[in-house]
Amino acid sequence: MATEKTLNDLFLDTLKDIYFAEKQILKALPKMARAAQSEEGKAGFLQHRDETQEQIARLEQVFELIGKPARGKTCEAIQGILAEGEEIMEEYKGTAALDAGLISSAQAVEHYEIARYGTLKSWAVQLGMNEAVTLLDATLQEEIATDQKLTALGEASANVKGTGGQSASAKGSIKRVS
Ligand SMILES: [Fe+2]
Ligand SMILES: [Fe+2]
Repeated sequence: MATEKTLNDLFLDTLKDIYFAEKQILKALPKMARAAQSEEGKAGFLQHRDETQEQIARLEQVFELIGKPARGKTCEAIQGILAEGEEIMEEYKGTAALDAGLISSAQAVEHYEIARYGTLKSWAVQLGMNEAVTLLDATLQEEIATDQKLTALGEASANVKGTGGQSASAKGSIKRVS
């Protein structure tokens, strides 16, 4: 490999990384929906599954724009994050803290995606790839919105469940988790 690598190469490699990651996430979301105890949690995971399918299609459009075949590259980071999520599903099955655990795993996934799409978008800007910028930004905004929904869901479920059996009213005005 005598040739020097460029930002274009890095862009393509990172695109392959997130393409692989999204496909893994697409498989994980229905499992998380099945595991979730709250209806909002279930619905949220299923909705994000549909969005993820769209996001994969957007990535395929970006591959097309740069004239490369859509191909994934194993991303160990997402495999690790998803493996931790599976561990929580097993270890907290049937407990009051399960949904809080699922939400925390899902947020780790979203933060990974936000990091990747944020970087890809800024590289696309630098490379003057305007159409790719639009596609990547559309997904970035969905991931940010999902992260915010998860935060709200986590706060709601932490106030009701996972507090050692005390009801929210019994805990009075205590809302702080820290
Ligand atoms: Fe995604
Ligand atoms: Fe996501």
